[in-house]
Amino acid sequence: MSGREELILAIETSCDDTAAALITVSGEVRASVSASQDAIHERYGGVVPEVASRAHVERASVVVREALLEAGASIEDVGRVAVTVGPGLIGALLVGLHTAKAIAWARRLPLTPVNHLHGHLAAAWLADPDAPCPMVTLVASGGHTLLVRVSDRRTFTLLGQTLDDAAGEAFDKGARLLGLGYPGGRELDLLAETGDAHAFDFPIGLKRSGSLDFSFSGVKTSLFYLLRSWTAEERAARAADVAASYRRAVVEALVSKLLAAAEAEGVAAVAIAGGVAANSLLRRRVEREAGERGLHVVVPPLRFCTDNAAMIGAAALTGPVLAYPDYLGLEASASLSIEVTPGV
Ligand code: KG4
Ligand code: ZN
Repeated sequence: MSGREELILAIETSCDDTAAALITVSGEVRASVSASQDAIHERYGGVVPEVASRAHVERASVVVREALLEAGASIEDVGRVAVTVGPGLIGALLVGLHTAKAIAWARRLPLTPVNHLHGHLAAAWLADPDAPCPMVTLVASGGHTLLVRVSDRRTFTLLGQTLDDAAGEAFDKGARLLGLGYPGGRELDLLAETGDAHAFDFPIGLKRSGSLDFSFSGVKTSLFYLLRSWTAEERAARAADVAASYRRAVVEALVSKLLAAAEAEGVAAVAIAGGVAANSLLRRRVEREAGERGLHVVVPPLRFCTDNAAMIGAAALTGPVLAYPDYLGLEASASLSIEVTPGV
């Protein structure tokens, strides 16, 4: 390793993406590889946990090898292993955890267990190394929707969360009702770009509640009842307007609560993260409206928003370093709160 910066190998398998990345201890991403399972789960209309675990088993060592190739590195260059231990699908998490333990154990390397949600938060400083703390970050994905105060890069406080569906789930279920692809959030977003966002008034969950929590079950139900009364021709003719109006309602809830949280916390910066941060209206509105309020805005590139291992490596930079063999008894946890740092 003479003269070469030590690398952290990060592994992420919490849901349906098998991912590996190499990041330097100073936070430079040298490789980030991800194998999506969308094509596998598409026929079921959702992620099937057992199928996901098996696919991770087939792909885990492949993505690690690919990441080393992409970085032009060898396993000797790896000085530490980082891995997601929760929250997520337990069988899927176990595949990544055991892969990470095996690599670390074989080479007597230290290991850092990572909370998947801390990974999403860390996407902000991967994208913008100077992002100032404290900040408020919106994490919105297929499984989570939460607002978090990031006091510093290792101190996180939950400010609000969804009481029912996640924002990504609302987009995916909307896409499904409209007959778009799987998972559907991206397709609904693309279609919405061509429609009239004020054609329909969908309910905005917990709009006047004054709380920082979210609810997306109402918007989904009202879409269901709207479409139910239409013929196939009417649906086809109005699909873009419906998608645009539906997207407006979901995004309005996300943006208004993010800005309210930033004001309540008195922070000077906001960020968005998670797969839904790929949404083009959300990105535009956060950039513009947070910018107008004089806030520092971090909107990470798409590759750091959807599940990836680079963000797990970035979170590991401020996580605990467990020496060999102290981590061999580590367990995965399907439900891990944002306020828990595993291994501490
Ligand atoms: O973070 P992620 O890759 O996986 C987890 O759920 O943890 O997020 C995936 C979610 C899916 O629900 C997907 O439909 C949604 O992010 N998504 C989008 C867009 N791109 C991905 N939702 C809205 N607009 C998009 N452009
Ligand atoms: Zn995620």
